[in-house]
Amino acid sequence: MNDGDGTLAAEGQERRFGPLGTALVIIPTYNEAENIKTIVGRVRKAVPEAHVLVADDNSPDGTGKLADELAAEDDHVQVLHRKGKEGLGAAYLAGFRWGMEHGYGVLIEMDADGSHQPEELPRLLTALKGADLVLGSRWVPGGRVVNWPKSREFISRGGSLYSRVLLDVPVRDVTGGYRAFRRETLEGLGLDEVASQGYCFQVDLARRAIKAGYHVVEVPITFVERELGDSKMSRDILVEALWRVTAWGVGERVGKVLGRDKRD
Ligand code: GDD
Ligand code: MN
Repeated sequence: MNDGDGTLAAEGQERRFGPLGTALVIIPTYNEAENIKTIVGRVRKAVPEAHVLVADDNSPDGTGKLADELAAEDDHVQVLHRKGKEGLGAAYLAGFRWGMEHGYGVLIEMDADGSHQPEELPRLLTALKGADLVLGSRWVPGGRVVNWPKSREFISRGGSLYSRVLLDVPVRDVTGGYRAFRRETLEGLGLDEVASQGYCFQVDLARRAIKAGYHVVEVPITFVERELGDSKMSRDILVEALWRVTAWGVGERVGKVLGRDKRD
């Protein structure tokens, strides 16, 4: 399933993938005033044909206003103003809906803080030509993390491992947030039923895509920890991830066992 460089040869898959439409890079923001101009500028330079949507949760530090300034001077930049902080998952769902309503063919997830390097986006898009979903991955050969404390690496690797084992998802980096979806893939994931708010949103979408039989490819990325502003990772976000992943895993097992009983 994961052949790293996005080729299909490993699986001998013959399926043809349609052309990629226009790409929309969705950047969720909460208090990213120090980062927003830099990241949007880097995206515009690295992939000039792509459009950018900043999904701001009414950041108290004025990120939304700065994004409006960028949008006023560049017709490839748009801003989705949301009423308040509702979590990364909700911001992405709103961004996806906006992008699909506006006819985009590729929807990309990218953090505002520079951790996901826009200069690596062309590689993700190349891989998407032969895939339904591309995951930027820190934990495949060639992928890595720069400037993360050991404690954070432990949480991330542990979270990926726990999710892989419990959910039987054959992906190395299940929690990563640098991704490229074909719109058809998003349409097939049942987004209306996604309740995940925090970072487990990423696990939720990866799990749904694999269960739905989509061709998911991991592409190595270099994740660079932010230099400016603060991470929004919190205890609540971790707790939500832990209970949801556990509930999904247990739910699937119970489903399998009951299914088996019925056949007996
Ligand atoms: N609109 C909105 N609302 N944006 C948010 C919210 C929210 O409630 N919470 C976080 N964000 C935005 C941030 O402003 C940033 O652009 C992006 O989401 C990622 O937030 P960070 O706080 O920088 O995340 P991180 O570096 O701790 O975590 C990253 O790695 C995780 C995996 O280890 C992210 O890429 C996560 O998605 C990923 O799961
Ligand atoms: Mn970050």
